[in-house]
Amino acid sequence: AATTRYEAERAPATCDGTIDSNYAGYSGTGFCNGRNAVGAAVQFTVDAPQAGTATLAVRFANGTTTARPADITVNGSPAASAPFESTGTWAGWTIRTLTVPLRAGGNTVRFTPTTSGGLPNLDHLDA
Ligand code: GCU
Repeated sequence: AATTRYEAERAPATCDGTIDSNYAGYSGTGFCNGRNAVGAAVQFTVDAPQAGTATLAVRFANGTTTARPADITVNGSPAASAPFESTGTWAGWTIRTLTVPLRAGGNTVRFTPTTSGGLPNLDHLDA
């Protein structure tokens, strides 16, 4: 099936932080710079034509030397986790894939950081 891109800076996505554009290489008009706090989440709404297992590709950058781990829920249920390791620089955009269950129609896919650094900068989700 075709891939749809969901930008972190574009509604209905939500970003608990600021939409920034000061590091090159992002898609769309910017990226989400989440607050540096546990729980400062980014949420996407992913449309699926039918229920089933889907591969999501999230593009992020972590310019620190410390991982920024996150739990990922789909429609409120735990679905995956990601380490969001250092990518070297804030312009070092990197893609991580996640395999999650989706239902037909709209799905809320929420990235919740579990450490005080918060999330990495999040650019988009491809689904
Ligand atoms: C820096 C960087 C931000 C990043 C932040 C962070 O301030 O410029 O883009 O989000 O660090 O540590 O999260």
